[in-house]
Amino acid sequence: MLKLGFASKLSKETNLFYKNIVVEVLQREGWFSFLEEPRSLEDIANKFDYTDKDYLKEILDALLSDDTITFKEDRYKTNGAIDIVDVKPQIFNESIMDYSRGYAKSIPERLRGKYHLVTTGYNLFNMDDALSLQMYKTMRRSAFAFGNVVNLKGKFLDIGCGNGIGTADIWTLYFENNYFNHHKQIEIYGIDVNSDMLKIAEEEFPLKIKNILSLSNEAIKQYEGKFPKLKEGTAIEIPFEDNYFDIVYISQVLHWTDPRKAIKEMYRVVKPGGIVFGTSILRPMANEYLHVNMKTVQGAHGFFTKKEMKTWIKEAGFKEMSFSTPLTIFKLVK
Ligand SMILES: C[S@@+](CC[C@H](N)C(=O)[O-])C[C@H]1O[C@@H](n2cnc3c(N)ncnc32)[C@H](O)[C@@H]1O
Repeated sequence: MLKLGFASKLSKETNLFYKNIVVEVLQREGWFSFLEEPRSLEDIANKFDYTDKDYLKEILDALLSDDTITFKEDRYKTNGAIDIVDVKPQIFNESIMDYSRGYAKSIPERLRGKYHLVTTGYNLFNMDDALSLQMYKTMRRSAFAFGNVVNLKGKFLDIGCGNGIGTADIWTLYFENNYFNHHKQIEIYGIDVNSDMLKIAEEEFPLKIKNILSLSNEAIKQYEGKFPKLKEGTAIEIPFEDNYFDIVYISQVLHWTDPRKAIKEMYRVVKPGGIVFGTSILRPMANEYLHVNMKTVQGAHGFFTKKEMKTWIKEAGFKEMSFSTPLTIFKLVK
């Protein structure tokens, strides 16, 4: 399970990092000098030619959540000097910081109605590198421990498999449990909306498992037929028929898409009695500035609460659900 200390460290440093990159962009736009006088949402929209007022309200809510600004009689106002501290969270690398800054820089455009596509919103090399971070590994491992899926067999789908680093982890976990040699059968599939990420996943899969398992190239070649089958597809339109999978896994993807639709889709493709499990950082633990960043991507819902998630899970028809905190891991049974 995820340790509380890890989660709290993660939240303190990363919260400050995400706040700073957003506040820096808004300061450059001229927000905080404008907000030295009390202003309504309309005043702000008119001053900066912002067209998306719902998104503007979400940014103002983020700034209110930590008292960076105040709200009185329908007017927003700065709450003292704006401090921008350059912070590098220990659990981050340059890549994740770089692509996060890229998202933050696009906030003004997004306020004027221009989105990123999920496939073009992040620099591929940064995302590839970021996914090797220990924090993603910890999340995956925790989800596997909680999902207790290593005793199951059948068809396994990894949704939003990215560069396949997690898929390789999954594959090796089953490999170590003798799945590819004995009667216990597992067939691993992966989908991602980004075909370039899938290309990396495909090409580097042998190298990834070689690094984890320390096997020779010849030994790895023997298992080629058992490698994951990768396909382009989205969580809200999974390119497989109904009741196709025994196990469906989704880690750190729901907030990038429409989570309600994705939960419904996962219900559709998993067999009755089958399992859906994964991770998703939920509100209130989720960072409000990261939410604002993420929403520069077209179709991204951003973070949501456990209450909302439970409603969507019930609505989809799942028979059972269980959660583990602090970084939420969930397991659902159809
Ligand atoms: C933070 S990464 C997580 C990758 C992987 N699950 C892991 O834990 O290492 C998010 C991934 O989700 C993919 N993604 C975003 N929106 C998606 C969608 N609607 N359907 C499928 N994949 C999506 C991105 O391309 C990216 O590879």
